[in-house]
Amino acid sequence: MVTEEPIEGVVKKKYMFLEDLPGIGPATAQKLEELGFHTVESLAMATAKELEPAGISEKKAFSVIEAARSSISVSFVRADELLKMRQSVLRLTTGSKAVDRILDGGLETQTITEFYGEYGSGKSQICHELCVNVQLPPERGGLNGAALYVDTENTFRTERIVQMANHLGLDPQQVVKNIIYAEAYTSDHQMFLLDNADEVIKENNVKLIIVDSLTAHFRSEYIGREMLASRQQKLNKHMHKLIRLARAFNAVAVVTNQVMAKPDVFFGDAVHPIGGHIVGHTSHTRVYLRRASHGPIRIARLVSSPYLPEGEEIFKITENGIEDVSEEEKSKSRWR
Ligand code: GTP
Ligand code: MG
Repeated sequence: MVTEEPIEGVVKKKYMFLEDLPGIGPATAQKLEELGFHTVESLAMATAKELEPAGISEKKAFSVIEAARSSISVSFVRADELLKMRQSVLRLTTGSKAVDRILDGGLETQTITEFYGEYGSGKSQICHELCVNVQLPPERGGLNGAALYVDTENTFRTERIVQMANHLGLDPQQVVKNIIYAEAYTSDHQMFLLDNADEVIKENNVKLIIVDSLTAHFRSEYIGREMLASRQQKLNKHMHKLIRLARAFNAVAVVTNQVMAKPDVFFGDAVHPIGGHIVGHTSHTRVYLRRASHGPIRIARLVSSPYLPEGEEIFKITENGIEDVSEEEKSKSRWR
């Protein structure tokens, strides 16, 4: 199906399905799907080399990708258009106004946000909360969308989602239906899931893509120095896929990464990311989580962002989910 609809006053061809693209027949479309390209959006973000296994020559690949790009209007852009793209960035609340503040209003679409910290620091709890919050309307900090949860450690709990949904006055049955869950058994399986996620994302209006944990499988499968390079290369590819999905569908992407305190460092708060420092060059916001004491209070520190300053705030994990710490609790707690 090809529709011609005006995009900002200019009539552009809009291709709905792969087979609508010039030069793509049913057989090629099927091969592309086997490679994980199910939508015009994902093709627009592909490289010519990635299409080679579908029997598409380099020259043809360029024209197919170009057509896909023209359809979703990603191409060379002028700086003022870049500004427009930035303006289409949406924000998702964490559930804590304080944490949202260090993130300048919440987690951004079109970027990857990494939560890293020790076990029990609240990485998975934040992921659960985000799955509920993304379903809220924009005036409540949500994106009116669904969530995709890639779980590598089998820590996703529907009961927890129900608690959080009830607290926000949402229908838990409905909220649970809008979370698409996939358990990844190995790092390859984890990669496969994302490589084939575009259709599910599109069909379900997914606005939040979570990989919890990004690094656990890689860490247990790629052991020793000699495997480090191939592990980083795969992680890089995986992150790249994620960022492309986040951009193509204007979705929030979240990954978690466990870190261990370095026992041999006595001063400061030295932590050591297990997967090594993952890809620094992708558009990437990093938030370090740690416990304040033995209670429910946690500290979130914005460690790096493409443009925001570092900042630190506290929040708490309760039956209700992720919440702000009241002034009264702050004055009682040893923190501050
Ligand atoms: P790893 O995945 O092991 O690296 O840890 P994580 O950072 O993902 O930790 P997670 O988000 O699972 O946090 C676990 C902590 O959240 C627990 O120790 C509790 O303090 C808190 N928590 C989890 N579920 C509940 C709950 O239902 N009620 C309350 N009040 N707290 C909870
Ligand atoms: Mg976890």
